[in-house]
Amino acid sequence: MKVTVVGAGNVGATCADVLAYKEIANEIVLLDIKEGWAEGKALDIWQKAPIDLYDSRTIGVTNDYSRTANSDIVVITSGLPRKPGMTRDDLIATNAKIVNGVTENVVKHSPNAIIIVVSNPLDVMTYAAHITSKLPRTRVIGMAGILDTARYRAFLAEELNVSPKDISAMILGGHGDTMVPLPRYTTVSGIPITELISADRLDAIVKRTINGGGELVKLMGTSAWYAPGSASAQMVEAIVKDQKRILPVCIQLDGEYGIKNCYLGVPAVLGKNGVEKIIELQLNESEKALLMTSRKHVNDVMEAYDKIMAAAN
Ligand code: NAI
Ligand code: 2OP
Repeated sequence: MKVTVVGAGNVGATCADVLAYKEIANEIVLLDIKEGWAEGKALDIWQKAPIDLYDSRTIGVTNDYSRTANSDIVVITSGLPRKPGMTRDDLIATNAKIVNGVTENVVKHSPNAIIIVVSNPLDVMTYAAHITSKLPRTRVIGMAGILDTARYRAFLAEELNVSPKDISAMILGGHGDTMVPLPRYTTVSGIPITELISADRLDAIVKRTINGGGELVKLMGTSAWYAPGSASAQMVEAIVKDQKRILPVCIQLDGEYGIKNCYLGVPAVLGKNGVEKIIELQLNESEKALLMTSRKHVNDVMEAYDKIMAAAN
């Protein structure tokens, strides 16, 4: 399997590292626009192989898409990260240009690839890559829900003093303030979360999860990379190994949840064909209302993207 990661910054290099040390793909190409940057990161990852004992080969290239040819999966992480005080949506104009240019090059050289978008604002960058690539919606998907759910699970594990491995959860909606954590679908080794934690504490954890990315930006002056890199690699793994895992994935909805033409995170079966099935959860009225608020927000940012594109053409 050949996997390309575009953007050798914090998230892209972490993703490539996880793909290599977990031997998820045997051929990994890391591409960046900054001269020598991807080559350096890839060489560093390869020099770790004798220590961590893996044989996946990572190579780095500066903007040379011929070296990415016939990739099975391409992860797009190129673009600016947030700085303190910025929302993900503030990145739209700059990152739309980057993601569209990258996607054009990707499909030219790997027309059969499955594309995983990571750049922010995530839901709208997935829209941009989907439209630009002209690939089926099941093959152009976004990573955010695995990260948001992981944050939620980590906070719950800390609160309950239990292993994060035992916490199973689902978050729907856009990647941002309107995401929809679902306590009703959260369990600890099969035990409903509401039996283990007070409503107040659960509410505080849900709020912390929604602000999870912002908390890290405030601490570090830039956004997170370890969990995002691993989350992206987990999507690659599910596809490479045809695992049929049920994971939250951003995809264009086409009637699911009563929503059309909006890109939102939903539980989906991920296997060798990309998204093989979207799972429609039974939502109660307040969960439905939150999902519709998220949809409205993402649709507004999609409209802003459309205006930027119209002005550029
Ligand atoms: P970074 O600044 O460390 O890395 C971005 C890399 O993209 C840089 O090395 C830059 O040279 C490269 N780049 C820029 N234009 C390019 C182009 N046209 N072609 C190839 N490479 C190009 O940023 P970081 O922290 O890695 O974040 C990357 C993106 O991922 C940001 O937009 C960030 O907001 C987003 N992100 C999304 C998450 C999610 O859950 N979906 C989580 C974390 C970050
Ligand atoms: C995060 O949630 C910045 O979207 C990124 O960490």
